[in-house]
Amino acid sequence: MDQSIVSLRSRDCTFGENNWSVLAKFWHPVAWSDELTDAPLGRKLLDVAVVLFRDAEGRAVAAHDVCPHRGSLLSQGTTVGGELVCPYHGMRYAGSGRCTMIPSNRAGVKIPDRLHLRLIEIAEHANLIWVRLDSSGQVPLPEWRELGNGDWQTYHLEPLVAKTSATRICENFNDVAHFAFVHTGTFANGVREEVEAYELVRSDYGLHQQLMIEQVDRVTLDSAADRTTSADYTYDFQFPFANKMHIKFDAKRSQHIFGAVTPVSSNESRLFMQFARNYDLDQPIADSLDFERAVSMEDLRIIEKVTPVDVPLDLTEEFSVAADKWSVAFRRQWRQFGLVQ
Ligand code: FES
Ligand SMILES: [Fe+2]
Repeated sequence: MDQSIVSLRSRDCTFGENNWSVLAKFWHPVAWSDELTDAPLGRKLLDVAVVLFRDAEGRAVAAHDVCPHRGSLLSQGTTVGGELVCPYHGMRYAGSGRCTMIPSNRAGVKIPDRLHLRLIEIAEHANLIWVRLDSSGQVPLPEWRELGNGDWQTYHLEPLVAKTSATRICENFNDVAHFAFVHTGTFANGVREEVEAYELVRSDYGLHQQLMIEQVDRVTLDSAADRTTSADYTYDFQFPFANKMHIKFDAKRSQHIFGAVTPVSSNESRLFMQFARNYDLDQPIADSLDFERAVSMEDLRIIEKVTPVDVPLDLTEEFSVAADKWSVAFRRQWRQFGLVQ
């Protein structure tokens, strides 16, 4: 393995070396594109500190958030003209990673080529900034083409920080048996508890299923006289932690929900939720965001208390029933990707 990748893993990493190496080969979201403006932004991924900034051309740059001079946290610094300025001794770094200024040196002293940021592979896609710690990975970014459709209204929540693993969040996103019990304050008050049998379709990096779900009708969502209706749910999950669902309420109204999860550490995650809808286009987005935030809070209240924090990969450790087809396949696939516990 590339030694430079191995050394990115921090000494206090909460992932074992094997699992860290498996997860480092995937793209992970770290920020909304619109969060990254003219100041450096510090994020953590797989217990690695990452600094993000925009260079002189506005391109997003990611690097290890450790100054190669004396180890300061670069994200505490500033940017000047698209260059990252270290908060400790003021050394400057261009978007290429090269050091362009050592303030303590006499003018004219050559800057060593080796004085360089540890750059991390980065991509801006689907309104998010994604990074990959180990570029030898094969799995592409999720396409999420629907976000580019101008006829739809697109909006997102602020990033949510959850005190649980990325695997538990994905399991929850793709679980429908909890609706009638967890989402009683939003879309599933008094709905049928039974989950219809569904077919799970596997692909190289994805899981897909479609089923009808009874829920409170969107038209009456805020009214006292709730009316339930059957909606068509299509789920498309892509490994490692990119969740997507399409809810067709009726022939005219439908919504896509995208949930990208960052494994910050083994027991902390960041959840990036975005939405696209083709109805209520004249309504304020704030109302919809309030609703979606409430749905997420209903989930987090439960899943932050679920133990063990990571989804067990040994299928005998928890008891699965018919509705758990997705989460059984999820666990099996992670074992195939090489995760161990
Ligand atoms: S630690 Fe960054 S310039 Fe010294
Ligand atoms: Fe939920």
